[in-house]
Order: sequence, then structure tokens, then C-alpha cells
Amino acid sequence: MRVLSGVQPSGTLHIGNYFGAIRQFIELQDEHECFYFLADLHALTTVHRGSDLTAFTRDLASGFLALGLDPEKAVLYRQSDIPEIPELMWILSTVTSMGLLQRCHSFKDKVSQGIVPNHGLFAYPVLMAADILIVDANLVPVGKDQKQHLEVTRDIVASFHATYGAGVFTLPEPLILDDVAVVPGLDGRKMSKSYGNTIDLFGSEKVVRKRIMSIVTDSTPVEEPKRKEGSALYELLKLFAPSSDRDWVERAFDEGGIGYGEMKRRLFEYFIERFAPARRRYEELRSDPAEVDRILAEGAGRVRQAIAPLMDRVRRVVGITY
Ligand code: TRP
Repeated sequence: MRVLSGVQPSGTLHIGNYFGAIRQFIELQDEHECFYFLADLHALTTVHRGSDLTAFTRDLASGFLALGLDPEKAVLYRQSDIPEIPELMWILSTVTSMGLLQRCHSFKDKVSQGIVPNHGLFAYPVLMAADILIVDANLVPVGKDQKQHLEVTRDIVASFHATYGAGVFTLPEPLILDDVAVVPGLDGRKMSKSYGNTIDLFGSEKVVRKRIMSIVTDSTPVEEPKRKEGSALYELLKLFAPSSDRDWVERAFDEGGIGYGEMKRRLFEYFIERFAPARRRYEELRSDPAEVDRILAEGAGRVRQAIAPLMDRVRRVVGITY
């Protein structure tokens, strides 16, 4: 199977990104031919400071690599290194109805939040279709929130084939990553950059400690049992505690005698232990940006080679010949 997915470099990586997506992406590299990219053109719809976008993009690439993406197994590349993507997007946009895009939840949500949408935000799903179709992806692992965008991609394929004849594109299937743990943020809502409740994967120890110590808890006294239901601290401890400490977590909540402060200190230790190798590797990559650039350039080269026959076919059927 050919697998493709992308992540927007629109902020710093947090543990919700890892457990919700990147961990599964990396696992897939052992069994499938995987293409993963940094969706910087998509991020442009919301990040409007150039220096931020550059930094987020490089940090995301370092993060992918530090967390175990192996460039020998999976192709890692930057969307903006592939000029054929916006070219294909334009061609697809000429067979995409306005109504299809007007019905997209993520677009409607942004509008209802009072965001004045730019055209890029409106056209976002067409760019995503180009990302996917250009590599002939069979399988696209995404979160539930992106399911509709996959349907849009499939609709665009149908419309292109109805216009120009069948057989140009591969119809992709979504692989919805919804059974994976929903990682609660500091305030108990889903961890998300937009809620400001994240724990960064590669933040300094000092900052990570401070974030963990600020997880919202109730006022149950130390000696009493604590409520597990709805407790972000409990969920995070379950996610991070090594199996030998799972009992400790259960007892801490069921029996009382251990305060939230102590539990948070443990959580911090588990976090550091779990991510120590990735954090070390991340620092190495950050101090060697040339190595990251080399990997991305190589990825882009492989992608451009892989997509050349498809782009030839597309240009030919629409009548653009050289
Ligand atoms: N829209 C996706 C997100 O925000 C990122 C993305 C861009 C993507 N292009 C893609 C995901 C193509 C899968 C396939 O999560």
C-alpha cells in the first residue's frame, strides 16, 4: 500500500500530535511505502509571519526524525519543494464545484468562529486533494476531523474522471485514527494548540515541568481517594506510566495518601524518561540544520521523480502539452 499524510507546521509539536498521529505514521513505515510531508503551503492559510513558518517547518522535520521516522524507509518532504502540487491543485480546482467546498465543516467552523476566511482557507481541501492524488496514495491516515476532506478528494476524482475519462487517479481511502487515545490537555479538554493547553514534546525541562505542575485538579485533600473520571492527570499518568507503575497510579487514586503534587512530579519523570532519546536526537538535529535540509532535499527529489509520469498523464489529458 502507498500511504500518505501531512502535518501543518503551524505551531510546536505537543504530546497530542504525537499520540494522535505521528506515532501511528511512524509505525506504518515498517509495512508500507510511506510519504509524509510538512504541509507548509497549508500552514500559510493561518501563519502569516515568515520567520515563524520557517522555524515551525524545520522544527517539525526535526521532530519527525527525532521521533523515529526513518528516511530510508519513509519519504519525508516539504510540500513547497514540489511545485507540481500547486499546479495539480489548479487543474483540480477547475473541476471542483464551489458548493462542495462551501459544505466543508472545517471551513464553516472557521467562519462561524468569526474568522474572515481568505481564499486559501476556502481552497484548502483542493490543495489537500492534490497532495494525495499526486503520489497515487491508497491510504491516508488522518484524524476524524479530516474525514470530510478525504471525501472531497474522492468527489474531485469522480468529477475529474467524469470530465476527462476514467483511470487517471487512484481513489484514496481514509485510515481514521480515532481509536487512539484522546490526549487530554492541561485543562481536561482535548489537547490542542488552539486551546493553549498543550505540553510540548521538545520544550525545555523547566517549561515542561511548569506545564505539568499546572494540570488542573480538584481540591481533594491528600489523604482522600481521588476521582479518576474526568481527571486529565489520571489519563496522562495512564498514558505515560511504564507498565510496572500502572498499579501505583491506580492505588494513588483509589486509596488516597498521595497528593496531586506528588503525582505530577511522577508524571514529569515518566515524560522525561519516555522521551529522553527523542529529545536528545532533536537537539542534535537542531544544531545540524544542514542535515535536516539534506534529508528534505533528498525526499523532494524522490517525490518529484515518483510523480513525473502521473503529471505527464494529467497534463496530456487536459491538453497542456510541451
Ligand atoms: N489538513 C491536514 C491537517 O490539518 C494536513 C494535511 C494537508 C493532510 N494535506 C494533507 C493530511 C493530505 C493528509 C493528507 O491535519
